[in-house]
Amino acid sequence: MDPETVMDAAREASERAYAPYSKFRVGAAILTEGGVIHAGCNVENASYGLAICAERNAATTMALANPEDRAIRLVAVFSPDAAPCFPCGACRQVLREFGCKEVLVEEASGVRSYPFEEILPHSFGPEDLG
Ligand code: THU
Repeated sequence: MDPETVMDAAREASERAYAPYSKFRVGAAILTEGGVIHAGCNVENASYGLAICAERNAATTMALANPEDRAIRLVAVFSPDAAPCFPCGACRQVLREFGCKEVLVEEASGVRSYPFEEILPHSFGPEDLG
């Protein structure tokens, strides 16, 4: 699938962000190995620490949608308030859980892809539990 298509889904999701406190809107779109896109936006809370990032919301949507298609081919992250917008540390670990292979971000020059190993090197994952 065209990276632009996945980034478009992230762009669209960022328009639904609920970010009244930080005013930092984020959209994420996961492309599964099965070729399905699941999007998410950040959702904040008056109890600030309960904010949930766009990437984690996309991952939970994916988990619910189809237990047979939970392998993440790539994730696209977009914020109209910062370019590029990379996933936070917590989200990197959650994406790692589902084998994410690539991260797409929007840079001044356009959509750029980073290998996941560069985003979270020497990571810990399900296989390490034996
Ligand atoms: N946020 C995301 O949704 N994803 C990121 O990659 C970075 C941060 C959200 C969390 C919070 O709602 C706001 O952006 C500011 O940190």
